Amino acid sequence: MTNDTNVHWHEHSVSREKREELMGHKGCVIWFTGLSGCGKSTIANLVDHKLHERGIHSFVLDGDNVRHGLNAGPGMLKDKHSEEFAKRFGLGFSAEDREENIRRIGAVAELFNSAGIVTLTAFISPYRQDRDRARDLVGEGNFIEVLVDAPLEVCESRDPKGLYKKARAGEIKGFTGIDDPYEAPTAPELVLKSGDKDAETLAEEVIAYLIENKKISG
Ligand SMILES: Nc1ncnc2c1ncn2[C@@H]1O[C@H](COP(=O)(O)OP(=O)(O)O)[C@@H](O)[C@H]1O
Ligand SMILES: [Mg+2]
Repeated sequence: MTNDTNVHWHEHSVSREKREELMGHKGCVIWFTGLSGCGKSTIANLVDHKLHERGIHSFVLDGDNVRHGLNAGPGMLKDKHSEEFAKRFGLGFSAEDREENIRRIGAVAELFNSAGIVTLTAFISPYRQDRDRARDLVGEGNFIEVLVDAPLEVCESRDPKGLYKKARAGEIKGFTGIDDPYEAPTAPELVLKSGDKDAETLAEEVIAYLIENKKISG
């Protein structure tokens, strides 16, 4: 690859196939999307647990955790040196920052995927275009978009972190579903009805999908 940045892709000496052979399964990205409180983290972690019990290498990339590290904004990092960088490169919740948040997560998910890990991401990821970019990066067939679908009223009544309350009070601006849009996927690989069914049942639906689509063996 040639470009004018002098940054070149270093080809892995261990091929993806060799890596998958060692793992005993392929990597993929299971991209959960949905309103705050719809159950992304809960379900992703249940699926992670079930995969682990089956001897599958999996990992959850979760919204808040990534915002505490990789994408941490000002005021979130302890040492002064890192804080300076967080001021320059940290991310907030503006449309532009949300886009960059998802771009970085997509890139990290793709690295995990190419390492052969079943990667679960649990981010609101409200904008269709951002998710589609992640899909393009990971590649069709390896990207499983999962809409965690519960009505806003249900998510708001759960309000596990008290965020809806703050958004309604005007203490948080640009909150998805309240004063910022959520663009639902038009053709997700899977829809989980988290307003009707319990998390355990929905996690089993994800496992069944992975078996049916030969991502893992039954
Ligand atoms: N069917 C369900 N699926 C997922 N979570 C559920 C379900 N029913 C109730 N809950 C509860 O709703 C909350 C969802 O929170 P969380 O998983 O953090 O959502 P998100 O990560 O999408 O913001 C949790 O407190 C969970 O126990
Ligand atoms: Mg969450």
